[in-house]
Amino acid sequence: MALPIDVVIMAAGKGTRMKSGLPKVLHRLGGIALLHHVIRCAEKMSARKAVVITGHGATEVEAACALMSSDLVPQFARQEPQLGTGHAVQQAVPLLADDGVTLVLSGDVPLTEASTLQALVNECDGQRLALLTLAMPDPTGYGRIVRAGMQASSQVRAIVEHKDASEEQRKITEIYSGIMAVPTRLLRQWLARLDNKNAQNEYYLTDIVKFAVADGVAVVAHQITDAAQVAGINSPVQLAELERVYQQRRAIALMEQGVRLADPARFDVRGELTCGADVEIDVNCLFEGKVTLGDGVRISANCVIANCTIAAGAVIHPFTHIDGEKLGVQVGEGALVGPFARLRPGAELGAEVHIGNFVEVKNSTLAKGAKANHLAYLGDATVGERVNYGAGSITANYDGANKHRTVIEADVHIGSNCVLVAPVTIGAGGTVGGGSTITKSTPPAALSVARGKQVSLTNWQRPVKVKS
Ligand code: UD1
Ligand code: CA
Repeated sequence: MALPIDVVIMAAGKGTRMKSGLPKVLHRLGGIALLHHVIRCAEKMSARKAVVITGHGATEVEAACALMSSDLVPQFARQEPQLGTGHAVQQAVPLLADDGVTLVLSGDVPLTEASTLQALVNECDGQRLALLTLAMPDPTGYGRIVRAGMQASSQVRAIVEHKDASEEQRKITEIYSGIMAVPTRLLRQWLARLDNKNAQNEYYLTDIVKFAVADGVAVVAHQITDAAQVAGINSPVQLAELERVYQQRRAIALMEQGVRLADPARFDVRGELTCGADVEIDVNCLFEGKVTLGDGVRISANCVIANCTIAAGAVIHPFTHIDGEKLGVQVGEGALVGPFARLRPGAELGAEVHIGNFVEVKNSTLAKGAKANHLAYLGDATVGERVNYGAGSITANYDGANKHRTVIEADVHIGSNCVLVAPVTIGAGGTVGGGSTITKSTPPAALSVARGKQVSLTNWQRPVKVKS
């Protein structure tokens, strides 16, 4: 029986090099906080518990955690002041039970995969100290894995921090990633023995390796080759670099499912993107929140698409902005949207609806085949099948205090530059003459016109300039 996993996430450090008022672990990668990535990973591993060690910006970090959607609700241990990684874990230990394995993670290392951590926990096997390690071409600054002999398989004796390492030890390229799995009952004993007699006067978590060796407990180094999985973020440059790695990995995963990305380097997902078969996405598109694309959907260049469902065969033309926020947006089968269209929360387009350039749709349903092709606004409207909504027309849905609905029944033709003052209903099959301001509901099949009558004066003289 595998032991329960309790995760300890170190997040008390200052993150000085971010040069930001926001605590480092709350900076976002792929649209979600670094710390949230780590908590999600712990959740994937079915961890029994997560303890986040907070210090700098503790109230902000704790408040942000409360808003993160996850089944694993973390507990917090405050570390004030911050006296090192060993001191950090000491603060969490009272919250941990002896029957488990403690997995130590950092809140600023977002891309570790659950499978990697599971392999590390398996190496620990409830009885060994398991260290996640990596060979680095330039190991400067990292803790070095010191072994009893020259072989890669030689017994691990210690981790020596860069600042404490001899010239000889600094040549070691195998480094400690900052991630370990350790039986909690042993961790508790070892942490009690830490001191701060080192170059940084810190309590080093890494010193427990010496204690394990002294106590005859096996220490295993689980070495991986994928550096991004253990890369920590200390600066905006590193954040941007890891963002690219993350985006590239998401792009590759989608392409492996058959999605055709014009250029994986010019594609960003900040959320959950689900794609059917034969989806094509052109360059410079950004997907946020929860987005679902049906079979054969085409997204043209430079679109921002958030929180929406786009049904099979729909085409989104360039420079379209869609954001359903909490209400969502639905685009029906075979619909054509854009270029330069804007779909806002509650826009529900039926099959084969056409929304053209500079058309804004909010909280409105458009039935099958309805069209609004140019420069228009539809807000709080119910639009019937095959309606044609003219250029420059708007629904005046807001009276300054309340919002009202406009109903446009099937087969209506709204001319150009009309104002439909809600609440109002345009009867089925009716036509509204261009330039009309409609304030009263209209009967079916009628032509309704509401504008000044045209007059032409034939004997009119244009003014001439007065000479001075
Ligand atoms: C640590 C390891 C080093 C390893 C490196 C990998 C120790 C002593 N050294 O280095 O062997 O190669 O990680 O990146 O553990 N933190 C706290 N409280 C503290 C100190 C740190 O919460 O008092 C947090 C930081 O916010 C960070 C994490 O612990 O998330 C690691 O701290 P950091 O200072 O980056 O690591 P090092 O001590 O440099
Ligand atoms: Ca440090």
